[in-house]
Amino acid sequence: MKDLTPPKDSLDPIEIASRDEITALQEERLAWSLRHAYENSPFFKQSFDAAGAHPDDFKTISDLAAFPFTVKEDLRATYPFGMFAVPRERLARVHASSGTTGKPTVVGYTRKDVDIWADCMARSIRASGGRPGDICHVAYGYGLFTGGLGAHYGAERLGCTVVPVSGGMTERQVTLISDFAPDIIMVTPSYMLSILDEFRRTGLDPRDSSLKVGIFGAEPWTNSMREEIERAFDMHAVDIYGLSEIMGPGVANECVETKDGLHVWEDHFYPEIIDPETGAVLPDGEIGELVFTTLTKEALPMIRYRTRDLSRILPGTARSMRRIEKITGRSDDMIILRGVNVFPTQIEEQLMKCRGLAPHFQIELIREGRMDEMIVNVEATGDAAAPEARAASAEELAHHVKSVIGITARIEIRDPGAVPRSEGKAKRVVDKRPRD
Ligand code: DLL
Repeated sequence: MKDLTPPKDSLDPIEIASRDEITALQEERLAWSLRHAYENSPFFKQSFDAAGAHPDDFKTISDLAAFPFTVKEDLRATYPFGMFAVPRERLARVHASSGTTGKPTVVGYTRKDVDIWADCMARSIRASGGRPGDICHVAYGYGLFTGGLGAHYGAERLGCTVVPVSGGMTERQVTLISDFAPDIIMVTPSYMLSILDEFRRTGLDPRDSSLKVGIFGAEPWTNSMREEIERAFDMHAVDIYGLSEIMGPGVANECVETKDGLHVWEDHFYPEIIDPETGAVLPDGEIGELVFTTLTKEALPMIRYRTRDLSRILPGTARSMRRIEKITGRSDDMIILRGVNVFPTQIEEQLMKCRGLAPHFQIELIREGRMDEMIVNVEATGDAAAPEARAASAEELAHHVKSVIGITARIEIRDPGAVPRSEGKAKRVVDKRPRD
């Protein structure tokens, strides 16, 4: 793989500024953001007043802890446009997340918000190893989901040639990659695996593709998956993080030269880690729930938004801005099986170690009698069709899951292609337990 480290002089100066400079900027911007939210969004006025917090009380970063959290439910309760801090006429765009239950949550952007988002995304693509002039294949979904348009504007801002393919039509994805010879692909990691299968089905060697780097996010994925994709395509695989409520993709991104966690673009987003039970702010280095406050957003300022994502904050390395560790999962995706907490990424980690298994999997939860059971549906690789080979893989995976995670899971080895695919975010858990 090529060294894609961006030249130092191509970085935004704040990416490598001193911590003191970053903190000073954050304090100035936090003061603005708290006041803007309070004065222009009735929701935030009411929520600050109820907590006895006033923007005048904010002097330094440690004062932020006095302000109340915001949660997804608040967006639902103010559906569709009730939380905005600007008149509707000033919105240049809205996005929405469908959510699995109830009403979608709607987010909005002023022209300036869209502009800053494009800057953050351009910075993310550059950190991933992208350069002006590169061809960028965007296979995140276009539409209300922030992935497609977020990636698109960022790639244009950096000076790339954008191919706005969106998700789906996997055969065509492969044709376009072969014909247009992109340098960069932006897509969910699970859909990249479907693209990989399609390469192999058509007899093309993915290592011969033009791709230099893949920028993968929108769902949790492991370092083992990174190795698999890097090996398969002979390209860099870099992690990108974001969420609609805060902006969309490009809140944090790995640097291609270190791949050691995601640098938060701290000039626009202030990260905290809290204890999900008590809400107390935890020191850097401790694992907990990630919370973000926007520093420059006009249309939808977000104060201490609880993401439900679990991670920890680490010091900067390739940039001065602090990193978040690769997200283990969301607290909503955590499976509690007979008292043990399990994330789908932990299962992914184990199955990537086993011979004869493809990285496509889905976890089913069922109840037999009074006992909850976990079934891991995972595909055999094309060359592992023999029943003995499959039985051996199942046994190997069951053993790893038991010895590393501490739970007994039933492993079902499926034929290649039998585990449901998604063209965007993968659905890793199907809970079939009766609701009681
Ligand atoms: O998924 C934005 C995005 C698009 C990020 C494309 C990266 C690339 P939402 O649909 O609002 O926005 O979902 C946000 O997805 O709270 C995490 O749970 C999860 N997520 C996003 N990026 C990552 C990642 C987009 N790199 C939710 N690793 C977040 C793990 C991620 N989880």
